[in-house]
Amino acid sequence: MKKILITGGAGFIGSHVVRLFVGKYPGYHIFNLDKLTYAGNLENLRDVEQMENYTFIRGDIVDSDFINQLFLQYGFDGVIHLAAESHVDRSITNPLEFVYTNVIGTVNLLNAARNIWKENMEGRLFYHVSTDEVYGSLGHEGIFTEETRYDPHSPYSASKASSDHFVRAYHDTYGLPVVLSNCSNNYGSYQFPEKLIPLFINNIKNNKPLPVYGKGENIRDWLWVEDHARAIDVIFHSGKKGETYNIGGHNEWKNIDLIRLMCKIMDRKLGRTPGTSEQLITYVKDRAGHDLRYAIDSGKLQKELGWVPSLQFEEGLEKTIDWYLSQTEWLKNVTSGEYQKYYEQQYVKR
Ligand code: NAD
Ligand code: DAU
Repeated sequence: MKKILITGGAGFIGSHVVRLFVGKYPGYHIFNLDKLTYAGNLENLRDVEQMENYTFIRGDIVDSDFINQLFLQYGFDGVIHLAAESHVDRSITNPLEFVYTNVIGTVNLLNAARNIWKENMEGRLFYHVSTDEVYGSLGHEGIFTEETRYDPHSPYSASKASSDHFVRAYHDTYGLPVVLSNCSNNYGSYQFPEKLIPLFINNIKNNKPLPVYGKGENIRDWLWVEDHARAIDVIFHSGKKGETYNIGGHNEWKNIDLIRLMCKIMDRKLGRTPGTSEQLITYVKDRAGHDLRYAIDSGKLQKELGWVPSLQFEEGLEKTIDWYLSQTEWLKNVTSGEYQKYYEQQYVKR
């Protein structure tokens, strides 16, 4: 049985990747390593936890002794690395946390993999999951390809860019078998409600202001999270060693247009008079260093590995809104306690 380590599997994207791999590959044993920070939640994996080919391990990728020991103990055949601090706003408040987890944590995993695989790299793979934000910001024209020069602007994207460079350096210097992907904005179930879509769904539901940064003119390229998980599956199994693949939905939305669409759908679902939820839109101080536009060219992945997104955005958004409206207990649990302090500092006291 192949032993696959997935890091950050209790988070948003990681939980979808764990669910896909545990269900689809009974010949793999999936080890989910997660620190369970505010963003990690075992509730995201209740349907998976009893499966025989699944083990959860609580631990911190920043702790090099623990990581080295873990790799020696289990002798993983492959790693899919998603664990990260992932929210841009938090990186502006606390950049060092992003350096520890995203940079040092990644290097600790690379060292541990190199150590146990050094005698035989055959059939091994270290897959690093990264973001399109490493490419910086586009103007109104252009698109990110795998050749776009790195130009990160936030502490989050700088830390992810740094980790990408380390992964490539370990391939070039030590021959570590690696593959990387850089994906655009994901949406779907189990996303922590600090990110735009789940935060605004929750606020619309609770009649709270919708804090739009700047003029709402920024553009993001949205991808259904399960399509990202499928892309990770395809790249893990068929991607070429040492290569990078961009993943995106060819689905650009100006924030304000997306927010208006969410308001419209939710008015209908909540039985409100059309136009009611839009009145919650409140323009607030812009995010520092706010990237104007992201757009991903996923042509390489589509042509070489045959992946295509499965879901139209409007359909995905409806499904996502339905999911959050039905998950009252999940939402209540993740928005109590610490979340309230974060919300105060980020939105109320500013
Ligand atoms: P998330 O914040 O929802 O989840 C991150 C997970 O990592 C959590 O379960 C958390 O507990 C865990 N974690 C954090 N620090 C850890 C540590 N020191 N040790 C062990 N576990 C730790 O993030 P996400 O949105 O699911 O993103 C997952 C990955 O995908 C990240 O690497 C992110 O950069 C990348 N990515 C995200 C998006 C997106 O739109 N969300 C898009 C492209 C790429
Ligand atoms: O592009 C991929 C990246 O997408 C991932 O690497 C990150 O982990 C993920 O968080 C996401 O980053 P963004 O900064 O694009 O996502 P966020 O949901 O925070 O914001 C989306 C847009 O909405 C952005 O232009 C900022 C704006 N926004 C966000 C929040 C939270 C608001 O206007 N108001 C808000 O309250």
